[in-house]
Amino acid sequence: MPDRRRASAFPAPPGAPIPGRLDARAVLGRAVIDAEFLRDPYPTYRVLREAAPLVWSDEFFGGAWLVTRHADVELVLRDARFSAQRTGGWVMQPADAAHAGRSGLQGFQRLFARAMIFLDAPDHTRVRQVMSAAFRPADLQRLVPRIERAVAERLSAVDAGAPFDFVGVLARPLPAQVIAWLMGLDDAEGAVSADVVAWSDELAHFVGAPAPNHAQALSAQTALLAMARYFDGLLARRRAALTRGAEPCDDLIGRLLQAERDGQIRGSAELLAQCVMLLFAGHETTRHLLANGLRTLLSHPEQWRQLQRDRALLPGAVRELLRFDSPVQYTGRRVTTDLVLHGQALRRGDLLVALIGAANRDPARHERPNELDITRRPAPPLAFGQGPHVCIGAALTLMEAQAVFAQLLERWPDLALTPGAPTHWTGNALYRGLNELSLQCSALMAATPAEAPTLPPSPTARSSEPACKP
Ligand code: HEM
Repeated sequence: MPDRRRASAFPAPPGAPIPGRLDARAVLGRAVIDAEFLRDPYPTYRVLREAAPLVWSDEFFGGAWLVTRHADVELVLRDARFSAQRTGGWVMQPADAAHAGRSGLQGFQRLFARAMIFLDAPDHTRVRQVMSAAFRPADLQRLVPRIERAVAERLSAVDAGAPFDFVGVLARPLPAQVIAWLMGLDDAEGAVSADVVAWSDELAHFVGAPAPNHAQALSAQTALLAMARYFDGLLARRRAALTRGAEPCDDLIGRLLQAERDGQIRGSAELLAQCVMLLFAGHETTRHLLANGLRTLLSHPEQWRQLQRDRALLPGAVRELLRFDSPVQYTGRRVTTDLVLHGQALRRGDLLVALIGAANRDPARHERPNELDITRRPAPPLAFGQGPHVCIGAALTLMEAQAVFAQLLERWPDLALTPGAPTHWTGNALYRGLNELSLQCSALMAATPAEAPTLPPSPTARSSEPACKP
């Protein structure tokens, strides 16, 4: 993430502690990221949080300040002195010195840097305004019956008499499908291309690597450019239809195209970047909430039963699951001007890694932070970030998670983790999640699924010529 040329105010090579700054290795007596950390990062976060507000680590992007306290993470995410523009050093500087300059990655960098999540005001404000229009509560509510039906269909396909993998059955495919509906990418059957999901996974490996190497960057570039080609074709067809006088589509891509025509989105690269980012941001995260959240709930069977008894607790329970084990563990910001924070001099260009996962367990903010308590009425968890970049998909995610958990509670009251089944963590420090989650329905007999709700008319069913499915 950091642009090392600008961060060169610190002359020491990576790994050498700089006098006056607390080094994470010295604090922990080991590396931050190891197998134990990937399994359970929270003990490490506690040590870092208690040691100092800012701890230096050379393991993140060649060197970064780790911020772990709730108040500081909030500050970093809200304060304009900390910029969201951080892709330069991240994409172009290698973790493996042999590939200095990362030749051949310019295409990747150009596209990546235009995504809203990496923009500052005023460009960020302009693009966010366009995107927000597609996330209005009324628009999202229209998706609920479709989501509920998709969940019911997927759960109905499970053989309740044998253990099944929740990630494969639902947590992985559902969020991709939902984001495809929102964007208008689904085919006539409502399906989303398997390629799109695979590209997104490839990108997640890069984005989630604290020190991505050249090979990871190249694979991510291949995926990103493939995604871009996919969108390019689709956008070209939609533009052509609009030129022929077709009715604009009432989906996210339709809104982006309209904004491009109005000059609010500047050029096809900016438009493409938003499509790619949205697809990726919308599916890598929600899937981990579903699987991590369910694993956490089923590991606390008394709270699962409490939810059975009182479904009104569900919205609060989802928020608590997000606090307890956040699917997005950190984000980054770059210091825009020399400043002093907590007595520590920060230089322009330094990277701050705001550890959301650590902040969500800060006892200064949450009582008994290491206990799951679905009846807790927490301040909104930091899991969706804060400030100008606060997650645009938060409401959609909450709707999706509630639909899934409600149906699981209804259908399989005795749902349980399969005894003895290993836990398959993805091993990604940023996107904390599971590759597989084996469950057993226990009751061995599925309840009769609720009657499938009526779907809103599909865009393909419109009478006038639609630009969305040319
Ligand atoms: C459990 C699910 C999710 C979690 C934990 C999550 C988390 C986050 C966080 C922490 C940020 C702020 C990043 C930063 O400040 O650097 C963010 C931003 C964002 N999220 Fe989510 N997200 C989730 C689901 C979604 C979904 C479903 C979508 C899209 C449909 C989405 C789209 C975005 C976008 C576009 C941004 C950038 C917003 C901006 O830059 O203004 N997210 N998300």
